[in-house]
Amino acid sequence: MWFPVIIVSTCILALQEVTAAALASDPAVLLLQEYVQINTTSNNNLTPAVAFWKKLADAEGLPFNVVELNQGYPIVVIKWAGSNSSISSIMLNSHMDVVPAKQEDGWKFPPFSAHIENGVMYGRGTQDMKSVSIQYYEALRRLKANGVTLLRDVYMTLMPDEELGAEKGMIPFLQSEEFAKLNVGVELDEGTSYDIPSIPLFYQDKVVWQIEVTCHGVAAHGSTFPPNSATATGKCANVINRFLKFRDEEYAKYTKAGITDAGPYTSVNLNRINGGVANNVIPASVSLTFDIRLGTSVNEEEFEARINKWIAKAGDNITLTYINKNHQSPATVISDSNPFWKAFSSAAAKINLPIMPMVPPGSTDARHVRRAGYPAFGFSPMPNTPFLLHSVNERLDIEVFLKGIPIYQSIIESLASIPAADVADNLSSYLIYTAD
Ligand SMILES: *[C@@H]1O[C@H](CO)[C@@H](O)[C@H](O)[C@H]1NC(C)=O
Ligand SMILES: *[C@@H]1O[C@H](CO)[C@@H](O)[C@H](O)[C@H]1NC(C)=O
Ligand SMILES: *[C@@H]1O[C@H](CO)[C@@H](O)[C@H](O)[C@H]1NC(C)=O
Ligand SMILES: *[C@@H]1O[C@H](CO)[C@@H](O)[C@H](O)[C@H]1NC(C)=O
Ligand SMILES: [Zn+2]
Repeated sequence: MWFPVIIVSTCILALQEVTAAALASDPAVLLLQEYVQINTTSNNNLTPAVAFWKKLADAEGLPFNVVELNQGYPIVVIKWAGSNSSISSIMLNSHMDVVPAKQEDGWKFPPFSAHIENGVMYGRGTQDMKSVSIQYYEALRRLKANGVTLLRDVYMTLMPDEELGAEKGMIPFLQSEEFAKLNVGVELDEGTSYDIPSIPLFYQDKVVWQIEVTCHGVAAHGSTFPPNSATATGKCANVINRFLKFRDEEYAKYTKAGITDAGPYTSVNLNRINGGVANNVIPASVSLTFDIRLGTSVNEEEFEARINKWIAKAGDNITLTYINKNHQSPATVISDSNPFWKAFSSAAAKINLPIMPMVPPGSTDARHVRRAGYPAFGFSPMPNTPFLLHSVNERLDIEVFLKGIPIYQSIIESLASIPAADVADNLSSYLIYTAD
């Protein structure tokens, strides 16, 4: 009785091994490995990454352009021509840069090795977001190989500097002549992994404000006893208490909002406290750094006035500096009145792909694109995948990665086939400002 059981399980095991080996040697997987192995940590020299994309564009005979608006920060543009270049195009954006990764932080395999173990590829950028860049490329390559003619031009754009805020990437690119020439109708950008069967689809991003509050007070010997209202620490304690009170109010909104909607609350974290020169000296100044992600309906002017009031009430001689102050960006319309939404969601429905429209807690380059007046969606097809963006042992199941390619084939074909007459000249009609 045990004999057949053994045979069956051995066969299954052998089959799994064969399948895993076949998946690992899929050309798309090899491409992703090669790309992950290029260390594109933000501010690194991106020449090898540009060369990688040049090679892929050349292999398909595609027009390849490098736009360098800031020296050392190349933006790659690859054109997949449609049949009518006078109609607005589909921009498939991804960023080349990744956040730093060090083996000693606890990586199972070197973070730029792209090592595959048990069908899972380990490496910085496997989720954020080199997988998506390769999926775009492979999807377009297969559509072309299958003789599918797209109506609209499709551009792959590959950005530097996303992880550091896009000042040398997407932000100047949107102002450039090269961008204007693309005649973009809609942009796709990154989404996220989640360990649920549905795939998040971002239609709006929150914006970041980072502030430094510095409290000045009397500097004196540690044995003296000035009132709290005169010391830097006393004043900063008031600031902290006021911000944490606000934080509690927003936290209550957060607990009600659920994971699919980070729009209703403003997150606040006190991430740095600096001050003090010696154990027996009352410090002349103390500074606090807060990282704030504005709720999508927060009016910027009102919120700034509120912060000013809290600081004024906390004491005299407190200064406020903005380290980062992005503007609110609109939401992309997610109803069938937006032909791009209609094309995206109907393509997903056709292949039984569960998508979950949401506002994420963080932000992507798409916020700049929407603010510039273009509808944009954030989407990374990584269902049932633990969230490991920016984490140690960032990794992606290669089966999930490979399944993303036909998903993009469907979505890209649908978006690039929207008839010219279905899209309004004024793309702002597909955006809503929720903060006014
Ligand atoms: C990757 O680049 C970063 C930033 O330049 C560097 O600190 C790191 O050592 C590099 N990692 C490897 C494995 O070369
Ligand atoms: C404010 O702090 C600065 C720097 O410590 C100090 O020079 C100034 O006299 C202070 N002003 C008041 C009104 O306390
Ligand atoms: C391309 O689309 C434009 C706008 O709809 C149309 O006027 C033009 O005739 C089309 N060109 C071709 C070659 O189909
Ligand atoms: C485009 O549409 C927006 C919102 O629908 C409107 O505010 C704006 O005035 C329009 N622009 C033009 C040039 O028609
Ligand atoms: Zn990213």
